[in-house]
Amino acid sequence: MTDMISMKKSIAFFDAKPYDKKFFDAADLRRLFDIRYFAPHLNADTALLAKGSDVVCAFVNDIISKDVIGILKDNGIKLIAMRCAGYNNVDLKASFDVMPVVRVPDYSPHAVAEHAAALILCLNRRIHRAYNRVRDGNFTLDGLLGFDLFGKTAGIVGTGKVGKCLIAILKGFGMRVLAYDAFPDAAYAAQAGISYVDLATLWREADVISLHCPLTPQTQHVINATTLAGMKPGVMIINTGRGALVDAKALIKALKTGKIGSAGLDVYEEESKYFFEDFSASMVNDDVLARLLTFPNVLVTAHQAFFTAEAMAHIADTTLNNIKDFFDGGFRPNEICYQCGKECLKKQNKPCF
Ligand code: NAI
Repeated sequence: MTDMISMKKSIAFFDAKPYDKKFFDAADLRRLFDIRYFAPHLNADTALLAKGSDVVCAFVNDIISKDVIGILKDNGIKLIAMRCAGYNNVDLKASFDVMPVVRVPDYSPHAVAEHAAALILCLNRRIHRAYNRVRDGNFTLDGLLGFDLFGKTAGIVGTGKVGKCLIAILKGFGMRVLAYDAFPDAAYAAQAGISYVDLATLWREADVISLHCPLTPQTQHVINATTLAGMKPGVMIINTGRGALVDAKALIKALKTGKIGSAGLDVYEEESKYFFEDFSASMVNDDVLARLLTFPNVLVTAHQAFFTAEAMAHIADTTLNNIKDFFDGGFRPNEICYQCGKECLKKQNKPCF
């Protein structure tokens, strides 16, 4: 943050964790903002905490519903600044013409793609099990058999920023890559040496499937009982996108029959109560999550794919710049249009409907 803004703006920062404070305070070295850190999620019960602030800053498990937007508006909030890329938890239609919503569209696709690759390698070579085994003095290999990624087929759903980074990594392993995207990028496919196919083909041919599309009504439960049935026996499924891309109950059934070889989940449909919190001294009451955690061939990480030093610094910097730009000149470079989910049209004051 290099430039000054005319008056110190107050930011109500929800779902604040110590690492958020560390990176946002570092990005706001000159204390141009008054950042009020609140531990609770933003929802209809907590929105009033923002009273007196100019901006709310929210994250992936905050609920920015029509009700919440109304409360924020009534209490003087002028901008919703998401400190993430996804925005499925924001009622953009309700916010339209009421309050702009900005986000951080590309803080580090490498961070997310590298985490997806970490899940693939860990699950395939059973590193999570080997780690525990040798620490217990057990140096046997039974049950740790993996497969060569070289020559296998990866199926990538969503070839945006993260999908493309992961494809580059998987091509480095010598994998064949099939992809599906609602808006295929033919020039990219030719240059990267990948093929776009329909979803049925991707499910049928992929040995490793990784999800990198946004959560929308079209992609909700894109992995479900029917699509699971069309997959290769023993397939590995990786989800670092959004939890609701996968029907977790259907996944559990397919894991129990052995149809699915393994699953790496950085996101979970009902994660909002648990992820980013410590339940180690209490219990997980969500039976679906608890069941997922029992499988030796399932790796769950708690929405940490984004969590690198580079990504956190970029998130803090872009979020504060978004806020500064808004108050400096009304320029909203990362504002989301509720119709298309892109930033471009609103920037020209031409919403696409
Ligand atoms: P992006 O916007 O660059 O790419 C998304 C791609 O999905 C685009 O190519 C788009 O055309 C495609 N797409 C849209 N609708 C589709 C559909 N119905 N079927 C198939 N493809 C469709 O987004 P980016 O940065 O690559 O991120 C992807 C997703 O990853 C985000 O939407 C977010 O939900 C998730 N994410 C997760 C993080 C984590 O920490 N686990 C961190 C950052 C993002």
